[in-house]
Amino acid sequence: MKKILIAMLMAVAPAAFASGGAKLDPVMIDLGDQASLQNGARIFVNYCLSCHSASYMRYNRMGHDLGISDELVKENLLFAADKVGDLMKAVMPKEDARDWFGTAPPDLSVTARSRGADWIYTYMRSFYREDKSPSGWNNTVFPHVAMPHVLYEWQGHQRAVLRTEKETHRVEEDGKSVEKTVERQVFDRFELENPGSMSPQDYDKAMRDLTNFMVYLGEPARLQRFTVGIYVLIFLAVFLVVAYLLKKEYWKDVH
Ligand code: HEC
Repeated sequence: MKKILIAMLMAVAPAAFASGGAKLDPVMIDLGDQASLQNGARIFVNYCLSCHSASYMRYNRMGHDLGISDELVKENLLFAADKVGDLMKAVMPKEDARDWFGTAPPDLSVTARSRGADWIYTYMRSFYREDKSPSGWNNTVFPHVAMPHVLYEWQGHQRAVLRTEKETHRVEEDGKSVEKTVERQVFDRFELENPGSMSPQDYDKAMRDLTNFMVYLGEPARLQRFTVGIYVLIFLAVFLVVAYLLKKEYWKDVH
């Protein structure tokens, strides 16, 4: 029993620490919301594929899954490739990216699974100005991130406001126990210095759509599983009625 408990705790622990201690904002994922998935796909193809790949996905598979025709995919979503059957590869060669950013932008195919939806949603809303960093940006859930804030024109510039936190410890000194107070600066909240073209509500909504899309990207079969699941539930509900009527029929003479 103890071993099982420990194993369970160890399975939960990485998720809890993945954010580096920063608080994550919860996001409502709805793979049944096709308009949201389509908007997420539009943002992803326009603003992320320049640096990142999603190399397990083909444009036409995505179009088919999200209800976008091949013609519309060709006209609106095909900047980084020639054919609708191509894989979603980054425009920027990996070597150039490494030279410019110091690290290559990772493939984003399964990031929603490795990091979690809440992490991505919070990450995309947590860039703030920091003049000391090479890109001019930092991020509360990914400290010293090499990625610049590519959507700052939408969100605007935000500043991180810090607050001082005091912590008191008891330490042993010369055989005596004394109280020591240490102060440290912790993140408190964001302040919008320069508003962007979107209101904070609209920006949050756009990032929810983008996150929704990345959850789909991480496991495209979930869309089918979703629909199949609904049919299965409907079948079970109908079957319940039939089974109940049958039971009544069989038992009607037994008292
Ligand atoms: C200008 C190039 C560039 C663009 C455009 C860009 N990124 Fe990034 N991104 C990076 C780099 C570089 C990293 C690696 C950061 C690091 O390791 O410090 C990164 C890291 C990430 C990560 C963290 C991945 C992980 O698990 O460590 C996520 C998530 C991400 N980007 C999402 C996006 C999304 C979504 C978009 C589109 C809105 C986008 N990026 C556009 C350069 C870019």
